[in-house]
This record gives sequence, structure tokens and C-alpha cells, in this order.
Amino acid sequence: MKFRRQVKKIMGVIATGILLPLMPLLASSEETIDINQFISPDICSGCHAEIFEQWENSMHHLAHKDPVYSRVSQFLRKGLTDAGEIKEAESCVKCHTPVGFLTGFPKKVSDDLSKTPEIAIQGIQCDYCHSAESVKQIHNNGLVLKPGQGEEEPGIKYGPFDDAVPDFHEAQYSKLHTESRICGTCHNVNHVVFGTNLETTYTEWENSVYNSTDPEKRIACQGCHMYQRSGIPATGSTKRPENPGSATDYSDERPHIFTHYFVGGNAWVPGFFGGKDKHRMAVERLENAATLSVDTSKLNEKKLNITVTNIGAGHSIPTGVGDLRQVWLEIIIQGKDNKTSFQAGVLDKKQVLPKDALIFRTVFGDGNGNEVINIAKARQVLKDNRIKAKQSVTRTIDLPAIPKKESMVTVRLLYRSMPQKILNLIPGEPFEPLPVVEMAKVQNRI
Ligand code: HEC
Ligand code: HEC
Ligand code: HEC
Ligand code: HEC
Ligand code: HEC
Repeated sequence: MKFRRQVKKIMGVIATGILLPLMPLLASSEETIDINQFISPDICSGCHAEIFEQWENSMHHLAHKDPVYSRVSQFLRKGLTDAGEIKEAESCVKCHTPVGFLTGFPKKVSDDLSKTPEIAIQGIQCDYCHSAESVKQIHNNGLVLKPGQGEEEPGIKYGPFDDAVPDFHEAQYSKLHTESRICGTCHNVNHVVFGTNLETTYTEWENSVYNSTDPEKRIACQGCHMYQRSGIPATGSTKRPENPGSATDYSDERPHIFTHYFVGGNAWVPGFFGGKDKHRMAVERLENAATLSVDTSKLNEKKLNITVTNIGAGHSIPTGVGDLRQVWLEIIIQGKDNKTSFQAGVLDKKQVLPKDALIFRTVFGDGNGNEVINIAKARQVLKDNRIKAKQSVTRTIDLPAIPKKESMVTVRLLYRSMPQKILNLIPGEPFEPLPVVEMAKVQNRI
């Protein structure tokens, strides 16, 4: 075995020597990676059981299977005729099914996805991230991969340790894995033809105080998202204690083992697949992201001032698919008799938000100032009023009348992954209403 590897290595060196000058003439390296080079997460779980359990049913594991993503992407692809719009609508698999895309199938959303190889169905997985060697661009998945040759020859797994000597695969320290860039390459999404910034999580982080040159203040994506575990949301407003443990059942203890839950705000999809722990952790994360303060001193002028502060997120609230995510203010004023005298941002019986709700989101346009909901048609960003990291935003509500004495003013900041209206547009089995998570609440008797 060892001898064979040695020979292969030598052959490799000779081959590289011959091939190197020809490289520019050869097809891009993307074409040359074979699906069998990737090792299934089940194999990694044999030794890294705890990390596997954390990753299982995370949004990375579910990136391809996620019914919200898969039905939305099929829906957006339908009926397009413009070549640029079609190109964008077909491009989703690059990040949501990356092992498949990289190795040749699926290349497009309209491919027969029932033929997706089993390993590619497992979304953003162990061997994908841990074969990443460099980043060629920080948007639209610019990871450059160097996987091994399958289970027989697993090759190098890149990670945070410079002294790991595993028995199954080789290991190498990778600075990239400790930096936000490895996340940013997929968490910045540009329209492939029009260039519109569709998702900007990395850029938002890059422009935030968390991207500090002072190592004491600097917090990369991993510093929050790979410190979280049940009961420890690990945000910018809560402690982020280390997680001592070992990377396998039989390895020595280390001061910190990075957790792999990859929890954001999605409180429905992981639970749908049985990841109940991730549902709870998403709620814990959202509950520690923002604060609310309500100023009732101007009620006599029929004005209510509400301030929202992003205290916990390393990017805007909401981030990611900012056109879909809904973070809004619900305001209810009730008299002493409990009768509602004013309300805003209250969901109706069909779970639909009123048009004038105060909502923090991005809105895309068609290039002529008209709103579009299909990102494939997004030629401009019309509006972006999301709350930046550490930023406070104040909104003044104009009330129709001065509230009666001793009224109760209740303001809540709420989160939902997507508008019910959009879910209702998607043909087929109706979606159950997505959970509404209370991020913050203030109640004042005036
Ligand atoms: C036969 C057991 C075994 C299997 C199977 C296994 N690993 Fe490991 N791996 C280890 C051991 C042992 C370490 C070293 C842990 C330490 O030093 O704390 C390790 C370390 C690592 C590291 C850290 C490397 C570094 O230098 O930072 C990564 C990343 C990793 N493994 C990824 C994987 C992936 C991905 C798979 C599946 C493709 C996998 N491992 C399968 C045993 C295994
Ligand atoms: C989205 C990319 C991504 C995926 C998917 C992923 N990892 Fe990791 N993993 C990382 C990063 C990044 C680090 C190091 C974080 C740092 O140093 O800041 C890491 C660290 C590790 C380590 C070192 C020990 C630790 O946790 O600190 C091991 C071992 C490991 N991962 C194994 C796995 C296995 C096994 C899977 C699949 C079940 C997996 N990883 C899935 C990105 C990923
Ligand atoms: C200081 C801690 C912190 C850092 C650093 C951080 N995040 Fe977050 N992240 C949060 C919190 C808190 C939330 C929940 C609030 C929200 O959804 O914005 C969150 C939510 C998310 C979400 C879900 C978005 C949504 O609204 O549904 C994604 C995706 C995400 N983060 C990715 C990243 C990436 C990628 C980076 C690095 C570029 C990063 N985060 C850096 C704290 C952090
Ligand atoms: C190969 C592309 C890729 C890389 C690399 C990647 N992500 Fe993701 N990530 C995704 C996709 C795609 C989703 C959403 C899947 C879905 O919702 O269907 C996602 C989801 C998430 C979520 C959950 C969002 C939510 O709404 O709950 C978090 C948190 C997250 N990623 C953090 C990270 C961090 C931290 C890193 C770096 C260590 C990282 N990601 C690296 C593609 C990637
Ligand atoms: C460059 C990588 C990338 C590409 C390309 C991409 N996405 Fe995503 N997608 C992400 C990331 C990262 C997230 C997680 C952000 C968040 O949680 O807000 C995500 C999340 C989503 C979600 C939210 C899923 C849920 O369960 O709430 C939908 C829907 C989605 N993407 C649709 C699409 C569609 C449709 C396309 C193609 C037109 C596409 N994506 C292309 C990276 C990508």
C-alpha cells in the first residue's frame, strides 16, 4: 500500500512536470475532478462521530434537499425567456449541490435532478470543505478543491491544526479554514450576468467592526457560527466560550473543537428533517441578535419612536437571502379594557403581513425601478434597509390618535424565513406556515 502510494506520488511528479507547460491548453480543473474522488460523510463519521452529528440536518447538509430551496428554484426557472435571466436561474446548483456541480452533474437547475448522485445529494459536506485549498474569488463559490482519490487514498484534509497526525487521511494546517473567506465565497452571491449583489453576507461582515485588525476584537464567521452549541448561542452579544474536546473518540483533548451545526435563522427546514436541536439553536441565535427600545414620550404628539439595534450579528439583520427573509416590527396598543386601539405589522389569519408593515429587507428591481421577486430578473438593488452590524435604526410611527391613559404598548421584533405570499405562489402541496420567531419584545404601560 505504502509502496503503491510512493510510486503514484513519483508518477504524479513526473506527470506534473510534463503536463504543467500544457496546463493552459487543458480543460479547467473543474472538469477533471471525478465524483469518486469524494468520500461520503458516513465514512468521516466513523471517527468524527460528534462533528458528523452536528453537521447532520444542518442547512449545509440540507442545501440540496431543502424543499424551500428546491421548489423556489424550480418555480423561478419557469417561464423565463431572457438569456441572462435563464443563466442565473440555472446557476443555483453551484452552491446548493456543489459536489455534483464540480464533478459534472447537475450543471443546471433544469437537469433531471432525480439522477443526482447520492453523495452530491448530501449538500455541502465534510470532504467538500476539507478539500478546499484556496479561493479564487469571494463570490459565487470560488473554492478551489484538491480532493484525494476516494477511500483508498483519501489525500490531505485541510483544517485548523498544524500538528494532527491522523491514521486514515493526511492532514495539513490551512489558514483559509480559520478565515471568513472560506465562508464568504458562497455567502456572497452575485447575479451571474447582471452582476447585481443578491447576497452580501461576507461584504457586510467585511465592513463591520468584527473585521478588526485587533485580534482581541476580530471575530470571523467561525467565531460565532462554529462556537454555537445548545444553550450557548455564541453571538456578538453573548459569551463565546471555547468548546474543549477531541476531534475523534480516540484523539487527545484540545482546548477548542469547532462545532459544525452551522445554525442561522432557519427555524423550520432542519426541524422538518428531524434536526430539532437546530430548530432550538436557531431560535436561541435570533433571540440574541437584536434589542428593541420604545420611546413613549412623544405620544401626546401622536408619535411612537422605536429603535432596533443589531447587537449580536456579524452582518446585517437579516442577512443571506435578504429579499426573502422577513424581520419586522409588530406594534399593538391596547386600552385598559384590553381593546386594541392601534396595531401595525400583525399577521392576518392567512399568515400574510399587511402591506405597510415596517420591515427590514432588500428589494430588487428590474432596472426601471419596478420591484421584482424573481432574483433571476434582478437588475438593480432598489432598497436595502436592513440593520447593519452594531447599527441602531430608529423608526417613528405616526399614530391616528393619542392613546388613552394607561394603555399598554407592546412592540415585538419578529423573524420569518419567507413571506407566506411567496410560498403560496409555489405550485404543488402547500407549505405549512413557517415559524415566526420573536427576536425581541418591549411592553410599556403608559
Ligand atoms: C480512521 C479515522 C478517521 C477517519 C475515517 C477520518 N478522520 Fe479526520 N482525523 C482523524 C484523526 C485521528 C485526526 C486528528 C485529530 C487531532 O489531531 O486532534 C483527524 C483530523 C482531521 C482534520 C483536521 C486536520 C487539521 O490538520 O486541522 C480534518 C479537517 C479531518 N480530520 C477531516 C476528515 C474528513 C473530511 C473525513 C472524511 C472524508 C475524515 N476526517 C475521516 C481520523 C479520521
Ligand atoms: C462549510 C464547510 C465545512 C463543512 C461542511 C465541514 N467542515 Fe469541518 N471545519 C470547517 C472549518 C472552517 C473548520 C475550522 C474552523 C476554524 O479553524 O476557524 C473545521 C474544522 C474541522 C475539524 C477540526 C476539529 C474541529 O472541529 O475544530 C474536523 C476534524 C472537521 N472539521 C471535520 C469535519 C467533518 C467530519 C465534517 C462532516 C461531518 C465537516 N468537518 C464538515 C469547515 C467545514
Ligand atoms: C458576531 C457574531 C457573528 C458573526 C461574526 C457572524 N454571524 Fe452570522 N449570524 C449571527 C447571528 C446572531 C445571526 C442571527 C440573526 C440574523 O439572522 O441575522 C446570524 C445569522 C446568519 C445567517 C442566517 C441569516 C438569516 O437572516 O436567515 C447566515 C447565513 C449567517 N449568519 C452567515 C454568516 C457568515 C457567512 C459570516 C461571516 C462572513 C457570519 N455569519 C458572521 C452572528 C454572527
Ligand atoms: C459551498 C458553499 C458554501 C460554503 C463554503 C459555506 N456555506 Fe454556509 N450555506 C451555503 C448554502 C447554499 C446555505 C443554505 C442552504 C439552504 O438554505 O438551502 C448555507 C447556509 C448556512 C447557514 C444557515 C443559514 C440559515 O438561514 O439558517 C449558516 C449559519 C452558514 N451557512 C454559515 C457558514 C459558515 C460559517 C461557513 C464557513 C465556515 C459557510 N457557511 C460556508 C453555502 C456555503
Ligand atoms: C454563490 C452561492 C449560491 C448560489 C449560486 C445560490 N445560492 Fe441560494 N443560498 C446561498 C446561501 C449562502 C444561502 C443561505 C443564506 C440564508 O440563510 O439567508 C442560500 C439560501 C437560499 C434560500 C433559502 C432557503 C430556505 O430554506 O429558507 C433559497 C430559497 C435559495 N437560496 C434559492 C436560490 C436560488 C433559486 C438560486 C439560483 C437562482 C440560488 N439560491 C443560488 C448560496 C447560494
